[in-house]
Amino acid sequence: ALEQKAFGLELRYYSGRVLIEAVSPKIFRFRLTAKSEWEEKISDAVILKPGADFKLERKLDRLIISTSHLRVIIPEGEFRFEIYDQEGRLLSQDFPGAGVRFASGEFQLHRYIFPEEEFYGLGDKYSFLNRRGRLWTFWNLDVGWKQYKRDPRYSSIPFLISLRQELAVGWFFDHPGWLQLDLGRRFSSLFSIYGKGEELDFYFLYGPSLRDLIQLYAQLVGTSYLPPLWALGYHQSRYSYFTQKKIEELGEEFEKNQLPLSAIHLDIHYMEKFKVFTVDKARFPDLKGLSKKLKEKGIYLVAIVDPGLKVSKNYSPYLRARENKILCADEKEEEYQARLWPGRCAFPDFFQKSAQEFWAEEHKFLFEQGIEGIWNDMNEPSFWKSELRFKDLVIPLRGEENPKMYHRINNKKVAHSYCRNLYGQKQAQATVLAFKKFKPGKRHFILSRSGFAGIQRYAGVWTGDNLSRFEYLSGSISQIISLGLCGVSFCGADIGGFALNCSSELFARWIELGAFYPFCRNHTAIKTRAQEPYQFGEEVLNIARKYLKLRYRFMPTLYSLFWLTHKTGLPIWRPLFLEFPTDPQARKIEDQVLIGDSLLLAPVVEKKARRRRIYLPEGLSLIHI
Ligand code: NOJ
Repeated sequence: ALEQKAFGLELRYYSGRVLIEAVSPKIFRFRLTAKSEWEEKISDAVILKPGADFKLERKLDRLIISTSHLRVIIPEGEFRFEIYDQEGRLLSQDFPGAGVRFASGEFQLHRYIFPEEEFYGLGDKYSFLNRRGRLWTFWNLDVGWKQYKRDPRYSSIPFLISLRQELAVGWFFDHPGWLQLDLGRRFSSLFSIYGKGEELDFYFLYGPSLRDLIQLYAQLVGTSYLPPLWALGYHQSRYSYFTQKKIEELGEEFEKNQLPLSAIHLDIHYMEKFKVFTVDKARFPDLKGLSKKLKEKGIYLVAIVDPGLKVSKNYSPYLRARENKILCADEKEEEYQARLWPGRCAFPDFFQKSAQEFWAEEHKFLFEQGIEGIWNDMNEPSFWKSELRFKDLVIPLRGEENPKMYHRINNKKVAHSYCRNLYGQKQAQATVLAFKKFKPGKRHFILSRSGFAGIQRYAGVWTGDNLSRFEYLSGSISQIISLGLCGVSFCGADIGGFALNCSSELFARWIELGAFYPFCRNHTAIKTRAQEPYQFGEEVLNIARKYLKLRYRFMPTLYSLFWLTHKTGLPIWRPLFLEFPTDPQARKIEDQVLIGDSLLLAPVVEKKARRRRIYLPEGLSLIHI
């Protein structure tokens, strides 16, 4: 049966229903379910409402729904589609006989891959830019440094770009539960989508140029928020600067060494026994005084805030959360508990409006201490079943990758597995609310480890616990470029690397490149060697000073690029092929990057290298700095 809707049509089959909507002349939405009713939508990633003119035609054996740019053809009685543009080019074709399938809470869909098709996007993946030939999973996970190359990862951005020569189309899967995209791994000409859930909701986007496609996607899920200017400066961090004294010294060292500095991050040891919204008074006797003194020098303090609340009858944020009934539940409708830094914790159900308000309110305490930025970590969410503890050191054991946790969304109980990939984003949203409440009219700085499509509307992200090794330096290029292609320009990798000790040579190379990361932060793990730019001798210090100063000189351009991405969605870090789409060679370059449309970086990212090859697309010329 067919029913015409305001912006499309709904088809009912024995096996389920399909809703096809013209969101814009270049975007179609496909929503499929095996159930008789549509579920209430959990994801709020998409902000564009359907609203394009469309035409519906019924030919003998098929239905055609079209806009001024696209034509979708549905063979009568079949659960599959073909998509063409108005020039008649075939853009997408389901695999006949194996269209959409729903069975026991899972779905799958198979489409053809064109022989010349290349795939890009998918946010932060540790891989080549071109994603073809592999299986990609979306399930937010604290991969940690020991498995840093693993997939899935901290964040999930299921926006896939397909390029055939210059023809660019995209797919966005608005699915915050478990999702897998097989881009030709099992069968080289098959693009398969597997997911868990009762519904599949995705968007097909038509560029046809890559530039237009990226901007179109930005209209769909929103562009980056605009951070304050100071947040574009250099951030210094480590796990952890243990005391107030240490932070004071840090400020002095930067000054003495003539190194610019805009922010210092406080990792988990500033808190009293790792309890969020507390400060360890013995270690930080006067945090308020400290932040004031630093702010006078243009240095802002950023405090880490993890999602767990320690279960304790002496800890008031937990007691308040309990009283407000905003904590996630377990199977028995009791409080879900798992372990995080402070020990046994309960977790705010950020999907509830009242939980967001509660969380926002708790930030008052931190802002009163002069904290200017919030760093949301462990929000995949990451928790564990047991740990080892030695004084300041906590070593998590036995991670909990699939917690039996439940949320309350629109007054219905929803299993965590249906919405996991949104949890961190919801926390970031609550943190934005905190800034709105207590710092109205001011731009915020939020750094989040986890996210879903649209995280850029709320926070910047970093790429998690990388290692102090050259391959993670070079790997960061494609990570940052791919995040940018998916709307997340405000991002960076830990400069110097998080785990292991950084060598002088590696640090010099990393700061040379990191000085151009849209988010520029040096961070390292507990028990590693000191990693501030002045810890590696005179030569490296001079290099660091030169490049950090260059970043600050470059700031007006960088700031304008942040504005541009905020307005248009065009990325700050760009792959060569975005600006040189007709150059086949440009597709292969993974170790160069364009900042905006006119500055090319060709960093040295190989150990012991003293020179490197540079690929110059036609029209670019060299300057030496
Ligand atoms: C994991 C984060 O990825 C890292 O950056 C941080 O230092 C530690 N948690 C401790 O908070």
